[in-house]
Amino acid sequence: MTRFAELAERYGTPLYVYDLDQVVAARDSLFAALPEGFELFYALKANPHPDVVGVLREGPGRTCRAEISSTGELHAALATGHRAQDCLYTGPGKTDAELDEAIGRGVRLFSVESPSDLRHVGAAAARAGAVAQCLLRVNSPTAHASTGIRMTGRPSQFGIDGETLADVLPELIRAPGTRIVGAHFYTMSNATDEENLLAEYGHVAELAAGLERDLGLPLDLLDLGGGFAAPYAVPGARTPYPKLRAELARILDRSLPRWRSGSPRLACESGRYLVAESGYLVSRVVNIKVGRGSRFVVLDAGINALGGLSGLGRLLPVAVTLDRPEQATEAEQAAEAEQATEPGTLAGPLCTPGDTLGRNVDLPPLHVGDLVTIPNVGAYGLTASLLAFLGRPAPGEVTVRGGEVVSASRLEHRRTYLAAVGR
Ligand SMILES: Cc1ncc(COP(=O)(O)O)c(C=O)c1O
Repeated sequence: MTRFAELAERYGTPLYVYDLDQVVAARDSLFAALPEGFELFYALKANPHPDVVGVLREGPGRTCRAEISSTGELHAALATGHRAQDCLYTGPGKTDAELDEAIGRGVRLFSVESPSDLRHVGAAAARAGAVAQCLLRVNSPTAHASTGIRMTGRPSQFGIDGETLADVLPELIRAPGTRIVGAHFYTMSNATDEENLLAEYGHVAELAAGLERDLGLPLDLLDLGGGFAAPYAVPGARTPYPKLRAELARILDRSLPRWRSGSPRLACESGRYLVAESGYLVSRVVNIKVGRGSRFVVLDAGINALGGLSGLGRLLPVAVTLDRPEQATEAEQAAEAEQATEPGTLAGPLCTPGDTLGRNVDLPPLHVGDLVTIPNVGAYGLTASLLAFLGRPAPGEVTVRGGEVVSASRLEHRRTYLAAVGR
């Protein structure tokens, strides 16, 4: 019996399995790919499971800080040992209640997305008698890279338009309750082309240096953003960045020559690169039907378990591998799965045509009752799914380390009443 079949038998399906050793390996490889001294924020939106969030701050080796953008993510970070003063709070719609909670718990570092967001953060800090350290998130007017998911250079709820900074910066620097400590760029996601990523970082470093030099932007900390790529729900490996360490150091030597002595301190962020590969969704085939000549394989996991958001807002090109328990070895299974793939539609169990994981997917020979595994869903898997839609229970989530189960749990949604109206 394979590892996944055994876990599915024990905990039922659909079941997410997160391999914490793979999370640690991804973290170590990203630190190794970055120049010495870089800090790395883990974006909890990719996967807020406590074991995953926790393992990223545990040594040995360099550890991640938490990038959070809600009270839920704040609690997840603090509950797993991340220190409030190490967290970076981001997002374009910070409410009074969540700012009060974050500041009350000791968070001091915020990325601000607009002049009004800065004033809002400052007002919350002032209410608590604190000073919020703010990174100005800049939506730069120009960009270098052309691939990946672009998040800059166009009208957006994210970031302050770079071309307005000359006018507004003096006022921003005086905003009560705040101290501007640097800049935050997040210009792209999922950059599979290293040259592009480097060109973008070169552009951003140059821009930040210009803002410091020409406009007097305080630059203690520069968050260059991320963009590190990983496959989503299809086989494959994290994108390697063999040149990044040396080339990025060269870029920084040119634009920010005092960076090696910590001026500015430098940071990057990542969600998917750190956790995508660690996650597998194990699901069971509940029905197979042929409709007007097309084959539909219905799984017990649909968009309620794997929403396909991935920060992209589009459906996935899912691939599954067969995990048939009665067969002895994984090698035998792989051999069978390779034998005869047939195209089909991979559907979920929900009562909506939108519950389609993939159309014309090459599927291994499948029967009702078979187990299938979807790889590379540790990032934007459960957390980016339509969990409440159609009232099915959330999938189970199992974490493993060194081949042993660390925890097995399930998220619950239950109604709580806001007021005792009519009760
Ligand atoms: C500000 C910010 N940081 C980090 C991330 C994580 O992105 P990824 O999972 O592609 O690394 C995102 C994703 O949208 C983001 O908006």
